[in-house]
Amino acid sequence: MAEQLGDLTRTHTCGELRSGDVGRDVVLLGWVHRVRDLGGVLFVDIRDRGGVTQVVFDADDDATLARAKKLRSEFVVGIGGTVRRRSDETVNPKLETGDVEVVVRKLTILNEAKTPPFTVAEDSPVSEEVRLKYRYMDLRRPRLQANIVLRHKLTTAIRRYFDEAGFLEIETPILTKSTPEGARDYLVPSRVHPGEFFALPQSPQLFKQILMVAGMDKYMQICKCFRDEDLRADRQPEFTQVDVEMSFARPETIFNLIEPLMAKIFSLIGMEITAPFQRMSYAEAMATYGSDKPDLRPGMPIQDLGHLFTDSQFRVFKEIVNGGGTVRGFVVNNAGTYSRSEVDGIVDEAKALGASGLVWARRADDGTVTSSVMKALGEAEVVRALDAAGCGNGDLLLISAGEPDTASKLLGQIRLSLAKRKGLLETNDFRFLWVVDFPLLEWDAEEKRFVAMHHPFTSPMDADLPLMDSDPGKARAKAYDLVLNGSEIGGGSIRIHDATLQSRIFSLLNISPEEAKTRFGFFLEALEYGTPPHGGIALGLDRIAALLTGESSIREVIAFPKTAAAVDQMSDAPSAVDARQLKDLHIQIAR
Ligand code: AMO
Repeated sequence: MAEQLGDLTRTHTCGELRSGDVGRDVVLLGWVHRVRDLGGVLFVDIRDRGGVTQVVFDADDDATLARAKKLRSEFVVGIGGTVRRRSDETVNPKLETGDVEVVVRKLTILNEAKTPPFTVAEDSPVSEEVRLKYRYMDLRRPRLQANIVLRHKLTTAIRRYFDEAGFLEIETPILTKSTPEGARDYLVPSRVHPGEFFALPQSPQLFKQILMVAGMDKYMQICKCFRDEDLRADRQPEFTQVDVEMSFARPETIFNLIEPLMAKIFSLIGMEITAPFQRMSYAEAMATYGSDKPDLRPGMPIQDLGHLFTDSQFRVFKEIVNGGGTVRGFVVNNAGTYSRSEVDGIVDEAKALGASGLVWARRADDGTVTSSVMKALGEAEVVRALDAAGCGNGDLLLISAGEPDTASKLLGQIRLSLAKRKGLLETNDFRFLWVVDFPLLEWDAEEKRFVAMHHPFTSPMDADLPLMDSDPGKARAKAYDLVLNGSEIGGGSIRIHDATLQSRIFSLLNISPEEAKTRFGFFLEALEYGTPPHGGIALGLDRIAALLTGESSIREVIAFPKTAAAVDQMSDAPSAVDARQLKDLHIQIAR
């Protein structure tokens, strides 16, 4: 039976006691981490968030020893006793408290525990399903404890940084209207307005812009955002943004604000980050890395080799190049040891990614040249391509021909998978990158209309304003993404502050004035009451926390994440509701 806490008061956490505390009377409160029963003496490790301390029950006190023998893993206990130095042979250098132990005089069993579904004391592998179902047990383990502590330090550092820079943290509504960020909305039915719904915010985009209209000047908020979209390791249906907006901002203003913030954040894990960060246009990122969020760590840039093949004797290449396509490739250094079947494996991987094929050429360590298209291209053309690409002895050149974007995207995927395989993605190497000069619009072939590449409130570049009438598809936006090691950790833009231009963009996006009025009327109206030029950014807090902790999934840095199937394994949400609730909400379920 559980005993009451009474007046038991913790004097130290389980991570605090050192040899300087020898002789002190202490009270520790925590969980039974491990028990070692040596017959006449019982050693128990007690754990709390602060750490682990060994306590000893010995035969001098038979009654307490007998009660202590009932202790099992994860029981909650209070112990009172005296700190003593451990004998030289039992000092545990792995524990911060390993020089000392506490000889117990009083044991209070505050609660018992069922046999845990997995051992907290060992970092043994456990299926994610079980970890998520028993999240409170998983959170007791060192890995998640450290992640949650780091996340706390991260949000604290961020708030302090923005406070010192004169930003106000302002809360925006959760029950609101849809803000287009490209995902589906989570809807909340209104009981008092039958048939009407709130949308949970995909981001506070419109509210933060309205705060600029309201003269708040510098806003930030660490806020939850909700998006009903397909989940991946770096996506959750509810996630946290560090949302920022500033009046009178240019892109540089935002870069100069965020770069020192990143330095501060990464100093939490002892990393020194140097600013300014590299910048790259969207077009260059797509061509050179086949991605709008390139991972710069492995090098291996994709090169355009099309010019080599305008007059190629290989008809396929020649026709592609002269028909508006191109030939692109990248060099894998020190691939001389790759066996033929390994190289064939890379080609198979390309095929699995939907490519019709992948061409390779290489120089063995002794300079011998081989290629999958040796016959078709002839040795001279193969050598020319190897030379042009800078492919030396022992290196491999991988080539894809076709529509430029498609060729680069394929090579980009192969590049990343090879980088992973070659161990080139060092987790402690942080390569920040601003991707800039995004196109304003994207053509949606299915819907046969333009869609906003970022969101419809993003300003075109000043120089491209004339294109709004002549060739809007070519206009670039004042938009930027912050990319770190292949992960998009933030995105933002300078906004449209002119109601006329905003209406023009809506019409380009095929949003009629009536629809614009219904969806964003309040916002368009606000724009007409003296809106300052403004811009901002939102950082993905979960993704940043995952990079800081070296985790590959953001689920590891969120206390209670959803599974990949968008359910909460622990509480079993979402779940059916009773008929009465549905009736109150005027909802019928169509089956
Ligand atoms: P964006 O949609 O790019 O911009 O989101 C900003 C950042 O939020 C993170 N993120 C996510 N993290 C986890 N799970 C998700 N489902 C998820 N979706 C996005 C990413 C991303 O870079 N209103 C704009 C910002 C602005 O223009 O100021 C916005 O929300 O790290």
